[in-house]
Amino acid sequence: MYYLLIAVISYLLGSIPFGLLIGRMVGGIDVRSYGSKRTGATNVLRTMGPRYGGLVFVLDALKGIAAIWAARWLMPDNAWAMVLAATIAVVGHIYPIFAGFHGGRGVATGLGGVLGIFPWGFLAAALVWWAVVLLTRYVSLASILASIAAAITAGVFFMLDQSHIAIVTYCGLIALAVVVSHRDNITRLRNGTESKFGQRVSVE
Ligand code: G3P
Repeated sequence: MYYLLIAVISYLLGSIPFGLLIGRMVGGIDVRSYGSKRTGATNVLRTMGPRYGGLVFVLDALKGIAAIWAARWLMPDNAWAMVLAATIAVVGHIYPIFAGFHGGRGVATGLGGVLGIFPWGFLAAALVWWAVVLLTRYVSLASILASIAAAITAGVFFMLDQSHIAIVTYCGLIALAVVVSHRDNITRLRNGTESKFGQRVSVE
């Protein structure tokens, strides 16, 4: 029963569309009408600039962390409850009930969950993300490779100590969700039409 409650709370938390809310409240725009049409931090950065892009990243990451807090509160010391919470928060972020089931790509919320469950994985993801952005300027490619880096790091920890089974499951699920949610980015990357970090979109 607690698992169901955790799933519902996590889905509702993940569904909070911070990108959409900040776009509307601060910029008077619907970010789903511009750029990649997503509500995530990258599209907010693209349409509203780094200050709001950064703010949305932090708020979206906090959704994953808050879901884990809820799980810890309801089912203390239960790693699978945390995995459920963090995973469902990402589902809520990608398919938010409060924004017509059209949200972001799950990167910030997923990495927030990684930070809450497995900080080494977050560190690996953050390093890979920055390196790929610096080298290629493709945020989408950086996000995909960062999520895979967290999963590989979790895999290494699991090989050394099988008690990391819940962690490697979560990081694997997040990497899968991030790759699937970037399907259109992957097509654009292959076509050479993907937008790059720092490219702004006019919202006039
Ligand atoms: O974190 C999302 C990023 O990897 C891609 O976002 O808006 O360029 O599709 P976007």
